[in-house]
Amino acid sequence: MTNLWSIWSLSLVTFACFGRGCSSHCPVLECWFLQEKKQGGASGSQEKILLDVGTEGHHRAASRHAAPDSSIRTIYSVEDPAATLCHRSLRPPSGSTNKPLCEISSFLPQPSSVKWAASLTESALSPIHLQADWLAGTLQGVGGELSVSSVLRAATGTSELDVVLSVTTTTVAVKARLSEPVLLDCQFWADPASPQSGFAVEWRYQYRGSGQLILAYDGKADRLSDTLEEGAMMDIAELHRNGNASLILQKAKVSHSGTYICMVYRPHLLAQVTMELEIAEPPSLSIYPTSLPLTVAGQSLTVHCEASGFAPYALELSWELKNPDGTTRPLGPGRLTGHRQAWDGTYSQDTRLELDTSTLDLGRGGEVTCVGQHSGGTRRASVTLRIIGFSTPSIEDSMAMVGVALVLYGLIKFVSWTFIPSGSSEAAESNKKEK
Ligand SMILES: *[C@@H]1O[C@H](CO)[C@@H](O)[C@H](O)[C@H]1NC(C)=O
Repeated sequence: MTNLWSIWSLSLVTFACFGRGCSSHCPVLECWFLQEKKQGGASGSQEKILLDVGTEGHHRAASRHAAPDSSIRTIYSVEDPAATLCHRSLRPPSGSTNKPLCEISSFLPQPSSVKWAASLTESALSPIHLQADWLAGTLQGVGGELSVSSVLRAATGTSELDVVLSVTTTTVAVKARLSEPVLLDCQFWADPASPQSGFAVEWRYQYRGSGQLILAYDGKADRLSDTLEEGAMMDIAELHRNGNASLILQKAKVSHSGTYICMVYRPHLLAQVTMELEIAEPPSLSIYPTSLPLTVAGQSLTVHCEASGFAPYALELSWELKNPDGTTRPLGPGRLTGHRQAWDGTYSQDTRLELDTSTLDLGRGGEVTCVGQHSGGTRRASVTLRIIGFSTPSIEDSMAMVGVALVLYGLIKFVSWTFIPSGSSEAAESNKKEK
């Protein structure tokens, strides 16, 4: 077990060095050092510090950075063999306003009370290794790409820190569709040079204030707790080989939405990262009737749209009309029903729209569309509406009418010229008078 442990730790270090070019790409991180409340009630304070990160032993002597900001009085030099703190999202291009977040606070090593980590501190000896300054660091990469939590150790009174335990996730916020498999990433690295060995992993779930254990694994005893969430698993071989403690949910359910915490225990030490999972399933829309009868102006029709199988709850249903000329006009939300929830936690909601040509300006009709806007995506369903004897004539119709009127006028004129010659009647009348 111990052998396996050192082998994978070593291979991680090698990978880190070849893959990322060792210290050359490690950042100088600006962090807030959060001082705990002094006893007696004074509130905690915070101070800006620098972490000069490197992966190699000679790094400390080689590089000395001057603080760019005179308010920074402390620069820690950090040795991070696994290069966890050298991730690209923690070193954005210089001049970027988007900076990674970093918080450091002091850490108190202590034996863990949870069952699956109890075997790590079975010997009652308090190791000499623990007599040092211990710090905990929490870092968030830019763009929500990465979250890291580390435990760091410095020989008492010095500013030379060693990363002893790091837990990382690259799935800080995950959105998944219903019934899909979901991978919640959690990788850890523990210092193979540490005098103590063994680890335990615990996954917890939190939603609206209540927490729950999902699974726990005692790495020293190689014992997995009963899986409390059906279909939740870890790849134990990957866990031992690569420190890959990722949680797999085989089939996403609506009830899986919430906060997940990956906790990694080492003897007396603990680091954890949190991530958010949102199961976002867009609605399926159906429109009734599926085809509309030819409608006469003045007549009224009702169309019905049913949105089903969506989660979360928030959905915006609306109607629109696409005229034959391609322009689209909103017709409002229609008459909405309340939400109904199905056995699988998904919701459904309906809307009805009264297509009344006397109150709505529908022109000659067009494509009537029901639109469902949802965090999982926008969905549409359409039906064609054709109106004859429309109340407002189009430009072409008006032109045609003018044309017809002109032709008629011409015809009447023509007829009157041909059959009633002008002047003849007047002449006839005067003739009569003369007689
Ligand atoms: C971690 O293990 C899971 C399950 O085997 C795998 O799908 C995933 O790709 C692994 N992650 C990494 C970074 O290797």
